[in-house]
Amino acid sequence: MESEAFQLTKSEIERLVTLGSLAPSGGNIQPWRVVVASRTLEIYLDCVRSTSFIDVERYASIFSLGSFAENVIIASEALGLVYDFRFIGYESIDKPLAKFEYYRRSTVQVNNFPLLYNQIEKRITNRKLFDGKIIEQDLIDNLKKVATQLDGLCELWTISSEQDKKIAAQILGKADRIRMHHPKLHEQMFGELRWNKQQVEQTQDGIDIDTLELPTVAVKLLSILRYYKVARRFFPQKVIESMPKSSVLGCSHFCCLSVKCEINPENLFIAGRILQRLWLTATEYNLAVQPWTVLPFFLIRTILFPGSGFSEAEEHEVRELGQKIKTLFGMPQDSFPLFLFRISKTSDFPSVRSLRVPWEMFTEIKNQVEQCN
Ligand SMILES: Cc1cc2nc3c(=O)[nH]c(=O)nc-3n(C[C@H](O)[C@H](O)[C@H](O)COP(=O)(O)O)c2cc1C
Repeated sequence: MESEAFQLTKSEIERLVTLGSLAPSGGNIQPWRVVVASRTLEIYLDCVRSTSFIDVERYASIFSLGSFAENVIIASEALGLVYDFRFIGYESIDKPLAKFEYYRRSTVQVNNFPLLYNQIEKRITNRKLFDGKIIEQDLIDNLKKVATQLDGLCELWTISSEQDKKIAAQILGKADRIRMHHPKLHEQMFGELRWNKQQVEQTQDGIDIDTLELPTVAVKLLSILRYYKVARRFFPQKVIESMPKSSVLGCSHFCCLSVKCEINPENLFIAGRILQRLWLTATEYNLAVQPWTVLPFFLIRTILFPGSGFSEAEEHEVRELGQKIKTLFGMPQDSFPLFLFRISKTSDFPSVRSLRVPWEMFTEIKNQVEQCN
């Protein structure tokens, strides 16, 4: 078919954007919007969903749009669609960040990511506790190779000794305490939680409390912590700071995806694409992945947008914690620790999946498309 006359079918659109939306996003906010017009598919930020304190300058959302786009790239290839993909840039909220242009359906099947395609619907955040079993080095080396794809912008750093994981847990605990004691962050963190099935099904976003894999007593504790004054008054700093310890000590490797160049929308978008490839590869290896990203996004705010919401003391502490993370991983000064996460060896998968809003809710189709396949 000639490219001018080419149109995506409704079922192709549905498949592409549904798989796109299975990308991870902080707090499961799903900050994307899609506009399709016959043979183009444009990805926008959603102006309402990308406004939290932690999503400074919508940077966390732009990162997630990169992961969304990566899923669409992988799905386009699997569907045999011939396309061009372009990152446009972040001009303003009403302009697309990235654009796919489709030309035809391929007669020869060329799929660069057949294995990753099968993992898109399996990928999940796994917050269970693990027993510290160590992942084979060849798998870790492969993940490190994946991280350097797309022009070597990113690098994957890992630690696995008990001593190093203890230090990581201390650093994360301090960042969690800053979050818990900051009124706005506290409010937004608890605003993301969905406490029962009814809330989960009504919103189809946010963090379903069951996905936190907490014992009943911890859920009760969390439900008390949601009252800011109670959290400040009755929970000593040390208790909050110790919370990440068992999760981090029980993982195999604690990891950091770093960016070598400047932190800007384009590099964040590319890093989001890389994260998605990494996470899908880890899924293929049956590894459990859980991000731990409060500190990196605090760092972005403190370093790139100082004076925008933290006190001087908080900014100072965040900078110190950022430096400690770099030292822990042995990272050079010009690298930025963008995404922290733990990976674990497991056959114990979460019983509950985070929901997504239906694709029609975030997709606008501008012209009549063929209904057939
Ligand atoms: C930028 C970003 C930050 C995240 N931060 C955390 C985090 O600090 N802790 C955590 O448990 N999950 C974190 N997640 C995972 C999301 O909560 C998860 O992707 C979302 O709830 C959807 O669930 P799913 O990954 O199982 O599909 C993060 C994901 C992204 C993309």
